[in-house]
Amino acid sequence: FLLGVYLVVTPVLGVYDRDRDALLKGTFPEDFIWSSASAAYQIEGAWNASGKGPSVWDTLAHQGNRQDTGDVACDSYHKYPEDVQLMKQMGLKYYRFSISWPRIFPTGEQQDGVNQDGVRYYNALIDELIANDITPMVTLFHWDLPQVLQDRYGGFLNNLTTNSTVIHDLFGDYARFCYRNFGDRVKYWITFNDPWIIALEGYGIGTYPPMLTDPAGQYIAGHNIILAHARAYHIYNDEFRATQNGKVSIALSCDWAEPKLPHQPASVAAADRYVQFFLGWFAHPIYKNGDYPEVMKTTLARKALEEGRTSSRLPEFTSQQKSYIRGTADFFALNFYTTVEVEDKGHIVTDNPTYFTDIDVIKDHPADWPQSPFGWLYVVPWGLRRALGFIRNEYGDPDIFITENGRPDHDRDPPILMDMDRICTYMMYTNEVMKARNLDNVKVKAYTAWSLLDGFEWMPGYTVRFGLYYVDFSDPDRKRYPKASSIFYKQLVRNNGFPE
Ligand code: NOJ
Repeated sequence: FLLGVYLVVTPVLGVYDRDRDALLKGTFPEDFIWSSASAAYQIEGAWNASGKGPSVWDTLAHQGNRQDTGDVACDSYHKYPEDVQLMKQMGLKYYRFSISWPRIFPTGEQQDGVNQDGVRYYNALIDELIANDITPMVTLFHWDLPQVLQDRYGGFLNNLTTNSTVIHDLFGDYARFCYRNFGDRVKYWITFNDPWIIALEGYGIGTYPPMLTDPAGQYIAGHNIILAHARAYHIYNDEFRATQNGKVSIALSCDWAEPKLPHQPASVAAADRYVQFFLGWFAHPIYKNGDYPEVMKTTLARKALEEGRTSSRLPEFTSQQKSYIRGTADFFALNFYTTVEVEDKGHIVTDNPTYFTDIDVIKDHPADWPQSPFGWLYVVPWGLRRALGFIRNEYGDPDIFITENGRPDHDRDPPILMDMDRICTYMMYTNEVMKARNLDNVKVKAYTAWSLLDGFEWMPGYTVRFGLYYVDFSDPDRKRYPKASSIFYKQLVRNNGFPE
């Protein structure tokens, strides 16, 4: 059956390349982790239940005449037992979900009060998972910053004007509260989901809340996120590890970058620069030496000179901070979706510098790479194998958990329930993971499908759907329907790969 679908669908997608894309037969080890994932604001709804505070996403969603909000979303705040049954039906043994900071501390600060109903909700969800033999993996921050922290302290820009590091302390307090209340049952923690997006889109190019645009903003926000992550890691280490014995990491995202001209050093260097500015920005400090990649430091220092500024936009860590940051992850958590082809652009001096002009690359996608309904997401399965190999080589052969991977569909009427392109995507990407594991000896331990349910897809709202289950957002009860991909995923999990 698998081979049949593959043979029918790959020529349609136009990605068949005998050497690179051929399916490998084989299986994963018995303890391989199959999971699916979600994020609080994308599925919970109940945006102001029992005094939950607003997050920056609630604020954005309620501004102007935006149609889609996360006010109800999938209503998982009420329907979580049903969601757990969906995972159980697929045979999943893990579930990655996020806790909403303002659902626990409505203002973001514990001293202003705790929302006990929020604590009860996460306790109930965790208990329901465990009762169904599903291991929780919890993300502490999946983008829903308490609005009050943005207003009071400038969010992750907080030490820009005040020279204060209160955001690190507040994130640490929130993490400590979660470890203390849930850590007896939660053994996998992700501090931040995708700091690249938070920093770049929230504080650099202003396409996500708090919608700030400042060519230095993303680097300051990134700097603060790294330090806040390190704080949360050390709190776990110092206060909880001995009794709770769990693992802590940070979920980093990355496009794989393939050089347009693989035999030209400038092209190869451009692709490397792209990956270092993307993944290395966060992974290099945490997994290597506590500091940013050399190429980020030299490129941004040169930009400062060329643009007549006295200092680089990239902040510096003190040597004390470097040792505090280095080694603050117990495994490598990777969110992976797509690949770009990259060419060197040459140095450019511009009056309007952005993160993208900082990297000096031109990004492209060859015509035979299939594009998904979400413009940036091209389906390039072999890019995942290369990214995994890069992580093995660059960051000391860590255990790797793929904490997100998937593809979207359009929102269509009638709904797309026979989602063959999603089946094909999961088949080919997981097969590349198996090649990385079984042929390249990369220590991949987990694969997580994004997403369990169609949800609120941030800026595009409900116009794109990532779920293994379809959610009818026009139904007050938000009924869920299985897509064909949920049946495929169930088979994949049961087969534990692609046996003979
Ligand atoms: C990454 C984000 O973590 C997740 O929230 C989002 O839905 C997916 N990418 C798909 O865009």
